[in-house]
Amino acid sequence: MIISFMNQKGGVGKTTVTLGVALTLERAGEKVGIIDMDSQKTSTRFLYYLRANNQTNIEITTSARGFDYVLIDTAPNLNLKQVKAADISDRVILVTKTAPPNLLSTQETVDYLKKHCRPDLPLYLLFNHVDNRKGHAQNLEEKATKVGGVSLPHHLSYMSDYEYLFLQGYAALDKEARLELSQVVYDIVSSPKAGM
Ligand SMILES: Nc1ncnc2c1ncn2[C@@H]1O[C@H](COP(=O)(O)OP(=O)(O)OP(=O)(O)O)[C@@H](O)[C@H]1O
Ligand SMILES: [Mg+2]
Repeated sequence: MIISFMNQKGGVGKTTVTLGVALTLERAGEKVGIIDMDSQKTSTRFLYYLRANNQTNIEITTSARGFDYVLIDTAPNLNLKQVKAADISDRVILVTKTAPPNLLSTQETVDYLKKHCRPDLPLYLLFNHVDNRKGHAQNLEEKATKVGGVSLPHHLSYMSDYEYLFLQGYAALDKEARLELSQVVYDIVSSPKAGM
């Protein structure tokens, strides 16, 4: 299965979610590769670091061949590269924060992908950085509808554990973070093939 993580907005957590989902799938016994389409090469750099410290066997790859799951981490842009990545993906996950400027960029990304990609694109929103204390977590479906999208059933909370994924891998995550990530992974792999 090929899963791409996108949003034209920077800093919403595309790379963090790519790594978190990859580490969760690896933990479940799957062979995982990451295609790093971002010239910042954040995924590549930290994956090499984690591999050098024997914290993972996830590979950086340019081909999907030989893997159970290939995750595509994309750059904060909207161009032909994103369209190509989306078109070869079994699921496209738009990672977004809940704040209005993020939702505006997410809406533009949804519109762009719907316009330029294959018509049956399996496109889903994943809310990240959610502050559960402020009750924002309650209105996620409504927020997704406003940007013309469909949200995955679960979201990822704002948690410092996720920042340390880059240095500590799966060991950075406590029970709550592991549970959230496994729910999100389940949501992604079991989501219908036709999305929005
Ligand atoms: N759920 C979360 N809780 C706390 N911190 C998070 C969470 N998700 C991401 N972060 C932090 O937010 C910052 C931005 O995340 P990340 O680099 O994954 O975003 P990105 O969308 O890949 O950015 P870019 O567009 O530049 O590639 C990082 O410092 C990361 O550790
Ligand atoms: Mg990134």
